[in-house]
Amino acid sequence: MDVELTIDRVRVTAEAGASILDAARRAGRDIPALCHHEAVPAIASCRLCLIEVRRLGRDWIQLTTSCDYPVSAGLVVVTDSRRIRKHRSMNLQLLLRRAPNAPVLRRLALQLDVTDPLFAPVTDAPLPDCILCELCVRVCSTLGYNALAAIGRGAGKSVGPPFGQTEALDCVGCGSCHETCPTECIPMEDTATTRTIWGRTFELLTCERCSRPITTKAHAEAMAAETDLAAKSSGLCEVCKTRITSERLASPGR
Ligand code: SF4
Ligand code: SF4
Ligand code: FES
Repeated sequence: MDVELTIDRVRVTAEAGASILDAARRAGRDIPALCHHEAVPAIASCRLCLIEVRRLGRDWIQLTTSCDYPVSAGLVVVTDSRRIRKHRSMNLQLLLRRAPNAPVLRRLALQLDVTDPLFAPVTDAPLPDCILCELCVRVCSTLGYNALAAIGRGAGKSVGPPFGQTEALDCVGCGSCHETCPTECIPMEDTATTRTIWGRTFELLTCERCSRPITTKAHAEAMAAETDLAAKSSGLCEVCKTRITSERLASPGR
């Protein structure tokens, strides 16, 4: 069911229960949000997506995260203010402590006029530039592989293979964690025939036409098992599949 709310003085409609972040982005508002992905549950860890919100019938304004705040009728939302920028900047300072060189944080620091670091950088993190947003853990879990976990608490917290393992035993090498990591800090190395990630090396299936990597053999087998299909790939990458379709459509004798 769609409901009406106000975002930055503009009346918009959004699905009840959707996050304010998603509704605001659909309305064209630019809110920084590093630990958010529409496909996985929110945990509001980066604290950058702050907004001010007033609920229908209440007269106080709450400063809160937007990625885990559900839309409801009559909300009045502000996505940028001096108060929001002040708290966003402090939260960015805390993230910069863990990932001082991450390009995404450097860009945000420029936008928010954060010039001088307030905190000494962490130098002994197991995964340099990791901001502990757990997006990799949630993505892997949503895909059904559960190869990663958040380990420990407080200053000693990290992400990686669970139970102190040095390699992610349930990983199939799909690369989704690497692709969604906001600070691009998960190492993944592809050669012509192999992919190495989280301490494991997988055989890569390559396109029969152009030799581009398609995915790992373990990932193809896992997907085939999920759909009860024989574990075989079409042998073609998406680019070649599209090209072949276009060539067939353009062929006069089709
Ligand atoms: S590459 Fe491995 S750890 Fe990363 S999402 Fe895929 S299965 Fe999970
Ligand atoms: S490795 Fe990347 S995705 Fe995973 S917790 Fe760290 S910053 Fe987030
Ligand atoms: S995106 Fe909302 S707290 Fe990170």
